[in-house]
Amino acid sequence: MTISSMPGSRSYQSVYEEFDSPLMSRLRSEAYGEDIGQHSWVTGDDLRRDVARLKLSREGKLLDLGCGPCGPLTFIMKTVSCSGYGLDLSGAALAAGRRRAALLAVEDKLELKQADLDSDLALVPCAFDAAVSFDVVLHLRDRRRVFGDIARALVPGGRFLFSDAAVVSGVISSEEVAMRSMHGFAQFCAPGYNERMLELAGFILLETEDRTQSLLKNARGRLDARVRYQSEFEKLEGVTEFSRYQGYLQSIISMAERLALSRVMYLAEARPA
Ligand SMILES: C[S@@+](CC[C@H](N)C(=O)[O-])C[C@H]1O[C@@H](n2cnc3c(N)ncnc32)[C@H](O)[C@@H]1O
Repeated sequence: MTISSMPGSRSYQSVYEEFDSPLMSRLRSEAYGEDIGQHSWVTGDDLRRDVARLKLSREGKLLDLGCGPCGPLTFIMKTVSCSGYGLDLSGAALAAGRRRAALLAVEDKLELKQADLDSDLALVPCAFDAAVSFDVVLHLRDRRRVFGDIARALVPGGRFLFSDAAVVSGVISSEEVAMRSMHGFAQFCAPGYNERMLELAGFILLETEDRTQSLLKNARGRLDARVRYQSEFEKLEGVTEFSRYQGYLQSIISMAERLALSRVMYLAEARPA
């Protein structure tokens, strides 16, 4: 069965089932320059700077919401020697995450749970020292509730760093909205919205940074690398799906180049109760 013949084609689940294949590993290292096991627009350089922002120690506990195959999570764990707790909807992503943790020898400090962030997360209050979420918030139905759950799960002063790849900073068309939603449900928000939701959820906003250039770098790299291996991808995905995914990347690149859809990093601190 090719990926394109599965229900929910090009869903995260179908991508994750192939995540560790030689073709996908080659794609990531050529597309991103540095393959840290990400399935997002995160770059190694951004992440190295973000680790310092989290103020984690070896004894610290890090929560990753929508960890996917745990690339950024295990990168931070390896850098700081802290513990990690990852949540994601996809069982295939978590299986890839466990393999990556074993490869980096951090599996003893990693706990993973299959969970829907749109439902009650039942996180233990004050259980974590920091939280991250890379390119996930656009898929959530009620980010204010999720931010509130995170604020309660952090120790007072605990840091939350996330990126939102769907901040509308110009004009986008209905076709582009449909294309950007090819992975499933998506929310597009206005500048200032995440800042307001963080405040209402009990956070103090510390910093924001435009990370649209990282998205552009990774999306262009992905587009070009997929062309180099077109016949292999067409065998895996089917000809129609290959072309649809290239269209998705081209659309993302176009919106980012004209600064119509921005990717923004937010850093916030849990307010003492
Ligand atoms: C763009 S990927 C990012 C993965 C990872 N953060 C990274 O940087 O490699 C988005 C992730 O969000 C997860 N996701 C989307 N909606 C979700 C939900 N409602 N509950 C849990 N995970 C969700 C997907 O399964 C996917 O792994």
